[in-house]
Amino acid sequence: MGLIGTDISLASKFLKQGEVVSIPTETVYGLAANAYNEAAVSKVFSIKQRPMSNPLIIHIGDIEQINEFVKEIPSEAVILAQHFWPGPLTLLLPKKATIPDMVTAGSNKVAIRIPNHPVTLQLLKTIPFPLAAPSANPFGYVSPTTTEHVKEQLGDKIPYILMGGTCAVGIESTIVGFEDGKTIVYRLGGLEIASIEKLVGTVILHNNLTASNPIEKLVTPGSLSYHYSPNKLLKLGNMSDLLVTYGSQKVGILAFDQYYEGVNKGQQILLAPTGKVEEAAYNLFAALRELDQLDIDVILCSLVPHQGLGMAINDRLVRASASRI
Ligand code: TXA
Ligand code: MG
Repeated sequence: MGLIGTDISLASKFLKQGEVVSIPTETVYGLAANAYNEAAVSKVFSIKQRPMSNPLIIHIGDIEQINEFVKEIPSEAVILAQHFWPGPLTLLLPKKATIPDMVTAGSNKVAIRIPNHPVTLQLLKTIPFPLAAPSANPFGYVSPTTTEHVKEQLGDKIPYILMGGTCAVGIESTIVGFEDGKTIVYRLGGLEIASIEKLVGTVILHNNLTASNPIEKLVTPGSLSYHYSPNKLLKLGNMSDLLVTYGSQKVGILAFDQYYEGVNKGQQILLAPTGKVEEAAYNLFAALRELDQLDIDVILCSLVPHQGLGMAINDRLVRASASRI
């Protein structure tokens, strides 16, 4: 079992040695390595059991650093970075050769963000390289939002988990790229679309998101490979229908802001007692992990209000409920 603590200089020491360290961010915990060190980056892939075809996000502490590894920056990207960094926004930009191809899985674009967490911002000041960091969960499973989550699954595979409390946003960053003067959203996340559109005008949702559009997905279930999934079967739909279908089994419910009748409250988790989607985002991944631990056969859930961060939550629910191929 590796160590867990608040020692930034120890985390820094491990990273300089080419080791992998879990770091807190405002979205989810990351599994970080020196982005310039291929041997260190390859450890991240193997610890996560992540396919090498799935690229990693680069984390930096200061916007100036971007010139070390980005070729040119569209004006929209500058505006968004200035407004939302540090924060839950990742920008896809043309990369220089300084970033190993392994980090971007061969793509000529690199994903970058400045995370908004005081501990990790402090850590980034102590190291002379950017950190490549995916979420600190085994590939395909629910992302971690506490050090406990990281410890349970990866604690014996890494030398250090840097503690930083519960992630304030709770859902991964929004990924934004630029093509032919258009702003494209590649992943819905902790920065809502409306905030981006206020600054750069209408954005386009990338195909991989329209494919996960909750409404379409419910019509053609199974069309997506799963992600963000608990080990238990998770079924998404209209709750009264689900309760009829799964009524003879032991069910757990991921509810939005109120409990459902007919199922023990001990087997239900409320995502947002106050009814706010931000609260639901904050609680989402911990709730899925908790339901996964209960003595139940199936987790039932419905879409949350499809606005603001609710869009990102619904995207995760659709993927988590996609059939495993
Ligand atoms: O909030 C976050 O973004 C968290 C924290 C730790 O920063 N990180 C995170 O990383 O969610 P990960 O690896 O779990 O998800 C990164 C996503 C993947 O879907 C990956 O395909 C995409 O970003 N991505 C990374 N680099 C890319 C690139 N060069 N081109 C296209 N997509 C990229
Ligand atoms: Mg992830």
